[in-house]
Amino acid sequence: MNQNLKDRRDFLKFMGRTTAMLGTAPFVTQLIGCSNSAQRHSDIPPLFMPLSHNKLDQLSLAQGLQYEILIKFNDPINTKDLFGVHNDFLAYQPFAGKIDEGVMLVNHEYFHPVIFHSRVMSGPRRAEDVRKEQLAIGNSLIHIKKTKDKWSFVKNSRFNRRITGQTMIPFQKGYSVMGKTQAMGTLANCAGGQTPWGTFLSCEENYDIFYGEVTYNNRKREYTPLDKYRWQDFNSNPPEHYGWVVEINPFTGAAVKRNALGRFEHESACVVIGKSGCAVVYMGEDKKGGYLYKFMADKKNSLESGTLYVADTNLGRWIPLDINKTPILKNHFDSQQDVLIYAHRAAEVAGGTPQDRPEDIEMDPITGTIFVALTNNSDRGNFYGSLLRLTEKNNDYESLEFTAETWLKGSQQNGFACPDNLAFDKAGNLWMTTDMSEKDQLDGKFGDMGHNGLYFIPLRGQHAGQAFLVATAPADAEFTGPLFSPDSKTLFLCVQHPGAMTEDPQKPTSTWPDGPGHMPKSSVVMISGPLLEKLQKT
Ligand code: FEO
Ligand code: CA
Ligand code: CA
Repeated sequence: MNQNLKDRRDFLKFMGRTTAMLGTAPFVTQLIGCSNSAQRHSDIPPLFMPLSHNKLDQLSLAQGLQYEILIKFNDPINTKDLFGVHNDFLAYQPFAGKIDEGVMLVNHEYFHPVIFHSRVMSGPRRAEDVRKEQLAIGNSLIHIKKTKDKWSFVKNSRFNRRITGQTMIPFQKGYSVMGKTQAMGTLANCAGGQTPWGTFLSCEENYDIFYGEVTYNNRKREYTPLDKYRWQDFNSNPPEHYGWVVEINPFTGAAVKRNALGRFEHESACVVIGKSGCAVVYMGEDKKGGYLYKFMADKKNSLESGTLYVADTNLGRWIPLDINKTPILKNHFDSQQDVLIYAHRAAEVAGGTPQDRPEDIEMDPITGTIFVALTNNSDRGNFYGSLLRLTEKNNDYESLEFTAETWLKGSQQNGFACPDNLAFDKAGNLWMTTDMSEKDQLDGKFGDMGHNGLYFIPLRGQHAGQAFLVATAPADAEFTGPLFSPDSKTLFLCVQHPGAMTEDPQKPTSTWPDGPGHMPKSSVVMISGPLLEKLQKT
């Protein structure tokens, strides 16, 4: 999700909200010594020739890398379904007994009305337009396979399917939300996760731009119909039906909204296994003053039940969002189901620490520590964002105590701003994409930082903590969903919202990937080449 949309949404929310945002408390404990830019280490030979920041309307790559498009917006995946819009998170689950053939999940987060409809949108919404939009968001499941070192998607496979804004999706057994046991559709599907038992997790992030938002204070619910997409003009779906983590079976497409993980603007879900053998899920809430959460399951191979916690990064403790364990919640909520439905408010009441837009979360496969991208928070003058490193006490994911430190800061000197998606490669190097808002880019907030990028950051060795630019995005786009193939020779990556500053459909601000005369299209690309393999040996 780009910041322009967020700023507009936040403004609209402000208009309808009485709750003042709490000041974001500082929690920095230390800054590591190696958090210097690649440029500053001129005495150390560079690993490779990183890209220069640029403003080209193309996907640029460092020498030694190439890309091909796997699939793009509106490509048919079978005789009735089209690949969706604004692709974000990617995950891959191979078929049993196979490595190089399976199902890929792609999230479709939101859409740009002018580009989507190829016309200026004004006046009352039309039912046929809204229906088309509902069918373009949600998820795609696509059958992919590798043949002779090249991945492709298998058109018309029975595994190709769409889950959309119109698919009826149940809440998990035993839960109802606003009197219903199922929701119409999934939406705002941003990043996500994958479970060790082979299901996908798709996170509903900025749900409020579709059906509006509710605030919940003093046991009172107040609805605010935001005017962004105005789907509420046609379907009176309550906002409480969105903002969940959706668990999806890759092979059947069966989906369920996992109430136990709480409802908020879910960016991502990083699943690890605790000492008990049960899953622990780290989750970011991408909004200014959003919180860090973790869910500890109490049954193996299941996210059906357990306890949701919010991070107090001042004191290094996890606070249970459980009405029986944190008594103050009883002063504000009638039931545990309400605590989960209004989890952001519960986190606020319970004393969680507001953060600067927590986005993706990943575990360092070498040390087991947790990395969190904190994109930025312009309200606090934090334009560049940072990476937070969280270490649980005794490296126990089920611990209720931890330490957190700012591991690497975005800055001109460090060569990046606004970290968003993260991925570790097999050698334990971090790959990071950035999401500088296109408006802030135009306004020069980031100096000569150019377009959004993909960065390679070694965690060990003489280049540890340096961010090397390996790819730059087309105009107004961000890279999302970095995912390595099982053999690590291909990096799947999404290009999302090229041309996002377009106002006149005759003059799109990007024409990637099809070139002049074409509207821009979000697409999934495959990056490969000798440099990708070399970097994973360092
Ligand atoms: Fe959808 Fe927070 O990015
Ligand atoms: Ca983003
Ligand atoms: Ca994101």
